[in-house]
Amino acid sequence: MIQVFQPRLGEDELAAISGVFERNWPGRGQEVDSFEKEFAGFLGVLPQNVLTTNSCTEAMFQILNLVAKAGDEVILPTISFVGAANAIVGQGMKAVFCDVDSKTGNATLERIKAVVTPKTKAILIQHFGGLPAEIHKIASWASEREIVLIEDAAGAMGSVYQDQPCGTFGDFGVWSLDAMKMVVAGDGGVIFAKSTEKAAALRERMYMGLSNVSGASSAGQQKRWWEFDVSYPGRRSIMNDISAAIARVQLRKLNENLKIRKRNAELYFKLLKDVPSIGMPLEDFTDNLSHYFFPVSVPASKRDDLAEYLNDHGIYTTFRYFPLNRVPLYGAQNLEFLNSDEFAATTLLLPQHVGLVIEDVEFVAGVVVQAMSGGIQ
Ligand SMILES: Cc1ncc(COP(=O)(O)O)c(C=O)c1O
Repeated sequence: MIQVFQPRLGEDELAAISGVFERNWPGRGQEVDSFEKEFAGFLGVLPQNVLTTNSCTEAMFQILNLVAKAGDEVILPTISFVGAANAIVGQGMKAVFCDVDSKTGNATLERIKAVVTPKTKAILIQHFGGLPAEIHKIASWASEREIVLIEDAAGAMGSVYQDQPCGTFGDFGVWSLDAMKMVVAGDGGVIFAKSTEKAAALRERMYMGLSNVSGASSAGQQKRWWEFDVSYPGRRSIMNDISAAIARVQLRKLNENLKIRKRNAELYFKLLKDVPSIGMPLEDFTDNLSHYFFPVSVPASKRDDLAEYLNDHGIYTTFRYFPLNRVPLYGAQNLEFLNSDEFAATTLLLPQHVGLVIEDVEFVAGVVVQAMSGGIQ
């Protein structure tokens, strides 16, 4: 079976984990510290503004908890990751959905403006599959209104918009290091906070709210180093050195892996561009995209059959992200978002990961062509 997403881990990652075992410290330690610095270097931002978490979902919970309170409205696109909506609704805030662009699946400023109210506290948008949203426009509009902008850049590690990495335009950016992402840690996440104070506040909250964490660092000045203050009833949301050791190796391989993703995408595009009734949002292949997804659009009447046909030929595909206004828990299922419904009914994600070889991509594209030229009715 050709998987739709798949990590590629090997000897290098294994050697990095061995190092952690040799030091006999698998908890949060020097690997996490180094990864945070290296990730800051990758983004081109100050190290004190970058911190790690145990997942990107937790990062969204923590950030919203810091900047908003129950009753506040938070705007998010209908096509969002489920954890984004949970971080809002799960903390008593109101999820206010906006429609997306029907070609890219991204929120636009126009769609955001259509749902903003005086109660809007924050906007949580994503870059669908690594394709940047019009983040420049959205960021300056939000900042003029003092609305907090959070960029879910989970799928956009390596995506650059107007010479700036996605995830660094808003007040906060978050990335995921789960098993399907551009940099894999097992599980994990990264936060960029534009404000150093907010980064420090998050750091404290994410380690139980302890404000005098290290007894060792205060030893000498303070006799009873086991005493502490608690600034906030925080959770334990930190990353560990085993995950960070893997992530550091993966980060070093990021550029090389992004090239493989780009090669896959270019090849799909070349092989599918002349197939009638297949659309592709991506037509411009710069070096500045993560190529997390490779979405194709087909007529709604054929999408599910195409997925089944591919499945029958050993190719797993999927659609992300099921429109969240259609999930009853979020209480918006009666709202109609036409672009989002169309996008969700016509889009299919083809296999896209660093484990694919050229022959795999050719095979997948070949089966898609077969399906669309008579294989399915
Ligand atoms: C766009 C997007 N945001 C957030 C997440 C959540 O990441 P994590 O699995 O690290 O919680 C995902 C995970 O698939 C995602 O695709």
